[in-house]
Amino acid sequence: MKTARKEKKHIPLIIGNWKMNPATLQKALELAVALKKEIPKKGASIISIAVPSLYTISIAPKVKGTRMNLCVQNVHAEEAGAHTGEIALSMLKDAGVSQTIVGHSERRAEGETDAKVRDKAVATLKKGMVAIVCIGERARDKEGDYFTEVENQLRVVLKGLSPSTFARLVIAYEPVWAIGTGKHATPEDVQEMKLFIQKVITDTVGRAAVSKIRILYGGSVNKENAQELLERGKADGFLIGGSSLNATEFASIIKIADTYAQS
Ligand code: PGA
Repeated sequence: MKTARKEKKHIPLIIGNWKMNPATLQKALELAVALKKEIPKKGASIISIAVPSLYTISIAPKVKGTRMNLCVQNVHAEEAGAHTGEIALSMLKDAGVSQTIVGHSERRAEGETDAKVRDKAVATLKKGMVAIVCIGERARDKEGDYFTEVENQLRVVLKGLSPSTFARLVIAYEPVWAIGTGKHATPEDVQEMKLFIQKVITDTVGRAAVSKIRILYGGSVNKENAQELLERGKADGFLIGGSSLNATEFASIIKIADTYAQS
């Protein structure tokens, strides 16, 4: 599964997914301030923090003027109306959010379907925001059926997307078995899956989209494995859970990505 063409390297995108952490706004603000201190002021990679939606209004002023973009971990696809408990994209945008994660496996486990993931991605892109769409197999099997699982998730999302939005679409390949387990996919696994995802993109929406859509890796990324996952795995960046809650560790990964981006 090799491509003959030499691929142009994307500027790495490094996203910290705070999940349902920290427990208080005070602690969240402390983490944002620590990140501001630890992350080099200048660097070649792009950085986002995906914080709990409740914290966005308070964190926005802390990240303003820094390299950090503000991201959330879920959205609702509708503009407004009778959707109890949901948060609209316009509200998030108003709070300073420019990116959304959709279809994280922890949300899919709560019943989020491929169709819902697509609707949320489409709505995000229509708002002029960046959509980070998570896909990934639950388990690996010798027969390679997990490729079909990933392909099906991806095809549903890509169908019907306007080519003008591709540069703001990010695919995060996150094998569920690697999330929060300390067992990351090997660089070879990541590269193979990236090539496969690019093939599905080519088949579904055309070859031109491949150069626009970043393909990140997520699942137990840390400062020890980040370099090889970029260099040999060819990941266009990372979606990072656990290691993003420690400002020093997250900043170390960013420094690795900055150096890689310039190589
Ligand atoms: P992890 O989480 O880095 O803790 O494995 C990744 C994710 O869930 O996005």
